[in-house]
Amino acid sequence: MEFFDSHAHYNDEKFEVDRDKLIKKIYNDNITNIINAGYSLESSKQAIIIAKNYKFMYATVGISPNDIEDCSKEDLSQIENLAKNKKVVAIGEIGLDYHWNTENKDLQKEIFILQIEMANRLELPIVIHTREAIYDTLDILKNKVNCIRKGVFHCCPLNVDLIREGLKLGFYISFAGPITFKNSKNADEIIKMVPLDKILIETDSPYLSPEPLRGKRNDSRNVKYIAQKIADVKELTLEEVAKSTYKNTKNIFKIGF
Ligand code: NI
Repeated sequence: MEFFDSHAHYNDEKFEVDRDKLIKKIYNDNITNIINAGYSLESSKQAIIIAKNYKFMYATVGISPNDIEDCSKEDLSQIENLAKNKKVVAIGEIGLDYHWNTENKDLQKEIFILQIEMANRLELPIVIHTREAIYDTLDILKNKVNCIRKGVFHCCPLNVDLIREGLKLGFYISFAGPITFKNSKNADEIIKMVPLDKILIETDSPYLSPEPLRGKRNDSRNVKYIAQKIADVKELTLEEVAKSTYKNTKNIFKIGF
């Protein structure tokens, strides 16, 4: 049985001490594909450099809403150049975050839209980060710009409206640690809403460790806890969830085509 961790940050400094050893351990534990996500110009560069070392690792490049304050138009054109690298499978993570930043909503929207247009030029899908900004995110996708290759709601907030509208728009839903948290009251309801052929799994490492490892540094091996939770709720085997999510991830990011 093989698993695909569709979103992790091995470009994070928390992996500085043991990155290479850990990534090999992860691979040997049957996590046989990983997408290493960028969130700023620097982390996007790093995401590609690290991914180049492993044939089972890919990268995304983009400026997240929490990193746009120091970003210039020049950075966006550098991101566009990085995105032409063969290892890059999407523009992301990009989007809106009104939890950490409420002062610059207009700038967040502008940079989000510019990066969707960039993805369209490059014929790439997008990886969306949205936090406490569900209706503005949906408004952009529905009314402001046509996102051609669609993409993924990464670490998707457990919100019924977002899931319903996101699926209608043709996006995939990626589940992370929070579906396993004891205080996620509606996780089961949300998981049932998403057809198996629209689900991706991810760890968002080094953050968001699933139960029972909350608070510890996360790594891709723990993607199995996410898959197990989905299997339990949908009354499927772990293998069925592993297989489908693997296939879905390859499909949306055109890996192995
Ligand atoms: Ni992330």
